[in-house]
Amino acid sequence: MKNIVISLGGSVVSADGGIDTKFLEGLSKLLGQRLRDNRFAITCGGGGTSKLYVEAARKFGASEYAKDEIAMATTWANALLVKAALGPDRCSFAGSVAEASNMIKDTPIVVLGGIMPGITTDTVAVLAAESMGAKLLVNISRVGGIYDQANKRKVFQSLNYNKLVSMAISKDPRRARSNFIFDVIASKLAARSGIELHFIGTDLHDLGCVLDGERHTGTVVKA
Ligand SMILES: Nc1ncnc2c1ncn2[C@@H]1O[C@H](COP(=O)(O)OP(=O)(O)OP(=O)(O)O)[C@@H](O)[C@H]1O
Ligand SMILES: [Mg+2]
Repeated sequence: MKNIVISLGGSVVSADGGIDTKFLEGLSKLLGQRLRDNRFAITCGGGGTSKLYVEAARKFGASEYAKDEIAMATTWANALLVKAALGPDRCSFAGSVAEASNMIKDTPIVVLGGIMPGITTDTVAVLAAESMGAKLLVNISRVGGIYDQANKRKVFQSLNYNKLVSMAISKDPRRARSNFIFDVIASKLAARSGIELHFIGTDLHDLGCVLDGERHTGTVVKA
């Protein structure tokens, strides 16, 4: 049995006031077919819901900490929605990484949201991978991979950890809703534990390829 972690971008769940139920149905079907050999821990970002709330809080002059707290609550809403989509009979919600790594011993799928202000759900995903000995982490976002900053149409096929960390550092203001595909802490933790990262978009064929160890259209990050 292999533990695999998925960092599911919030914008994949909720964007522009809508929820992508079709994607979640597809995800449920695909993961359901892979449960004989794998268990999954899925962290969910806040996406469009978080954006809506954080922008309103900004108008009230809320602190960065308060905005992160609000954003975190939206990640729980998304995680609980993903649990509903994947089936509560085979999926549980964990409120911490420690709880997730305990639950995964006898639950096929564990979902998580944020765990504390200042820490992104990508970082939660890597911490979950470290704690449950997962060596593979799939990041799913609206962007199909990591692109070259100088040419957004060029998606890297593979990168090493150093390159990912330097790209993440150059784009990290550490504010709620800041925009790089994977944050610095998550990138550094993945590097220290040699966790292979796969960045893909919402085409579930790519997720199938990652799980089968085949090439996909996104980006692989390793040593
Ligand atoms: N070099 C890059 N390669 C890929 N995406 C990049 C790059 N630089 C910046 N980005 C931005 O990163 C964003 C994707 O990650 P982001 O974490 O914002 O989305 P998400 O994970 O779906 O949402 P959430 O943070 O709510 O979970 C996109 O807006 C993309 O434009
Ligand atoms: Mg993301």
